[in-house]
Amino acid sequence: MQINNVKGTHDIIGEEANGFAYIENLLKQISELFAYNEVRPPVIEHSELFVRSVGEASDVVRKEMYTFNDKANRSITLRPEFTAGIIRLLVQNKTLLTNELPYKAYYCGPVFRYERPQLGRYRQFNQFGVEAVGFDSPEIDVEVIALAYTMLQSLNLEKVVLKINTLGDEQSRTAYKEALKKYFEPYLSDMCDDCQSRYDLNPLRILDCKVPTDRDLVKDAPRMKDFLSEKAQSRFEYVLALLDSLEIPYQVDDTLVRGLDYYSETVFEFHYISKGGNNYGAIGAGGHYDKLVKELDGPDVAGVGFSFGIERLFSVLKDDDLLRYILNDYLDYYVMPLGLAAREMALTVATELRLAGFRTDLCFEEAKLNSMFKRAERKMAKFAVIIGEDEINRREVIIKNLETKQQKTVALDKLVETINSDLGEYCEDCSCE
Ligand code: HAM
Repeated sequence: MQINNVKGTHDIIGEEANGFAYIENLLKQISELFAYNEVRPPVIEHSELFVRSVGEASDVVRKEMYTFNDKANRSITLRPEFTAGIIRLLVQNKTLLTNELPYKAYYCGPVFRYERPQLGRYRQFNQFGVEAVGFDSPEIDVEVIALAYTMLQSLNLEKVVLKINTLGDEQSRTAYKEALKKYFEPYLSDMCDDCQSRYDLNPLRILDCKVPTDRDLVKDAPRMKDFLSEKAQSRFEYVLALLDSLEIPYQVDDTLVRGLDYYSETVFEFHYISKGGNNYGAIGAGGHYDKLVKELDGPDVAGVGFSFGIERLFSVLKDDDLLRYILNDYLDYYVMPLGLAAREMALTVATELRLAGFRTDLCFEEAKLNSMFKRAERKMAKFAVIIGEDEINRREVIIKNLETKQQKTVALDKLVETINSDLGEYCEDCSCE
């Protein structure tokens, strides 16, 4: 029997592989512009890391972790998210959190959650994210949101909706949790099993319940905004004012609580509904955390970060036909050797062009000139480089512009120089900047 991929996983090939590479590279470049450094934590961590950080009350820890005992009987988990591993890494490598703060890290790679597979929901998926750790300030919350927003703008995802809320400080959350418990107590026996345990572990999680009868109860539940301390309220107002000054549009959503337990103060999600009406849920999300670093035995410092789901970014780009702007499926040069003897020179020419930064391919098969031109067209080449017997003897090549059909002969030892000066002339004539 044929062996297929595991349910909830997917092979990333062809257009999707190109799209992922493009998205990841772009997000890396923008992170570098914002002075973030790449970090690569391992895929496996001690299970306790996620229990202590993501939280016992979260669905991720309660139901979705891929956990197993290794041969030495240690409980190991495939990371269900990055943030906990990044904080573990920073705490373990002590100097990182004693130098200039915040430490700004970005990361990218696969994560694993045993969820029910559906549109945009996988069991192995890829995240790209950042964490700015070691410093507590509303400005950093906003800088991190601005970074995420810049990334989405650079991907042309203009219809994105930023939803934002505050979970307040500890004092606000303690008061709010008490109010929620009081409100849900009379209904508890009719609520789903999950909510009954959420009630004890973290009643905030009840607000995220998807069971329709529980959702009806949630509609009339007390709201966080009525329990915010003055300090938490003014911090949030300042965050919103900073977003206004950066002209980043947002919607305050006071039902937004996030599914992981480590958050405090600012939380946010980016939502996107494609032109065709497909709702992929959040394409990225994050927030501020006060206690996570200390909880993992590090210094008493705060952090803030977000992660995008790469699968979801790719899906919305594809759905809204935005991929054609980013997938450069074309060639600058297609090198066409006529006959065996020309192939050696073709390899030299292709190598020179590639080293000069031109996307180049060459024909290795014995083929007629016409069929090579057809191949060049299929590969969307801008120029053909033709090498026949005469060209070998004269150490020259013919370069043909496949759009204008104009061609010229160029000496081999002046190839890149001539191309670059032609490009320069072209740019002086045209109106590009
Ligand atoms: P999260 O909301 O659990 O947050 O996941 C972040 C993003 O990962 C989601 O917005 C979504 O795009 C994507 N995602 C989540 N689950 C799936 C899935 N099953 N299939 C495909 N994509 C999925 C975190 O993971 C936090 N660590 C974010 C963060 C960083 N908070 C602070 N720093």
